[in-house]
Amino acid sequence: MASLSSLSQPISKTPYNSLKFASHSTNSLLTPKNRSFSGLGFRSLGLSCVVKNSIQSEALVEATQISDVPLLSCSEAMERLRNSQESYRGKQQFLAMYSSVYGGITTDPAAMVIPMDDHMVHRGHGVFDTTAIMDGYLYELDQHLDRILRSAKMAKINIPFDRESIRRILIQTVSASKCRNGSLRYWLSAGPGDFQLSPSACHKPSLYAIVIEDQSPADQKGIKVVTSSIPIKPPQFATVKSVNYLPNVLSKMEAEENGGYAAIWLDDDGYVAEGPNMNVAFVTKDKKLVMPHFNKILSGCTARRVLALAEGLVKEGTIRGIRVGNVTVEEGKNADEMMLIGSGVLARSVVQWDEQIIGDGKEGPVTWALLNLIVEDMNSGPDTVRVPVPY
Ligand SMILES: Cc1ncc(COP(=O)(O)O)c(C=O)c1O
Repeated sequence: MASLSSLSQPISKTPYNSLKFASHSTNSLLTPKNRSFSGLGFRSLGLSCVVKNSIQSEALVEATQISDVPLLSCSEAMERLRNSQESYRGKQQFLAMYSSVYGGITTDPAAMVIPMDDHMVHRGHGVFDTTAIMDGYLYELDQHLDRILRSAKMAKINIPFDRESIRRILIQTVSASKCRNGSLRYWLSAGPGDFQLSPSACHKPSLYAIVIEDQSPADQKGIKVVTSSIPIKPPQFATVKSVNYLPNVLSKMEAEENGGYAAIWLDDDGYVAEGPNMNVAFVTKDKKLVMPHFNKILSGCTARRVLALAEGLVKEGTIRGIRVGNVTVEEGKNADEMMLIGSGVLARSVVQWDEQIIGDGKEGPVTWALLNLIVEDMNSGPDTVRVPVPY
């Protein structure tokens, strides 16, 4: 039988079995009568540490006395999962998921789950990427694939299949989803195993991919950004697209708390770095497109494509040149235009950074021109950026 003393031990020192046993046995063991008796007994000893233990054990008893937590069969758990998903799912629909754990694709949202013992879940040992699905084509799939493979290498994650197989699986997942507009998100992880820090017991690396239909129209109104007070990740981690996005999340929340859309990171030398899930660029007073270089931040696939597309704007004289390098805050805040660039925002004008109005406070013409070039590229760009999905 579990004893009161085993319940009052610090949890970390309590063997799993006795804790489990205690949780099943407390209802019968601890009648209100027993509890008042134990309380009286402890008080009469007059030892504060014992009283504290008593309070702790009472709290634990309360916690273990919950009797309305149902024990579910697999099908009941799946049913509840399905109902829960249906209750919160908004505009986004999850149309298909691939998992190397079950070695196939499912279109049932309730089965779109990953194992809790996956090293990515409990230790953040995973990398990910996203590719837009535009009118039945995958935009810049190969560029994103190259990046996730680079990220996996930097995170010391062996890949479960070769590049071509991963590519084929991703395309097949989109095909099975029948999605023509949305996004494909995918993860490479050290895989399931145990709950230890070392991945040495991970069974084998895993690949997960999900297709999300998204019909919300892209909002292109000019936005406000703030300077992030959350520290930027050091270059070794900022250049990897790992699942460790806590700083990015906190930075985004900080922006929202201050009426902004995103918070901008400065690097350790005080130069402009990037946003939490986008790059930044400026059009200077002398009409040059300037962008921070990628050695301390994530190499954005969209930003790199923008650099190539912007050559056209140089040729037609809309801008005078392109520079990738250090950008000071002063240069940024005094620019004619500021923009966020990424798969999610494409190219979006920033009209205010902290208290500073950027340019004339309106969406900038170069940002509009770049946005149009990206959209055109997504719709009718070359084969190198558009991979057709065989539905
Ligand atoms: C930190 C960070 N920077 C930049 C980007 C933009 O990259 P991409 O254009 O490839 O979406 C992302 C994208 O998610 C990001 O997470």
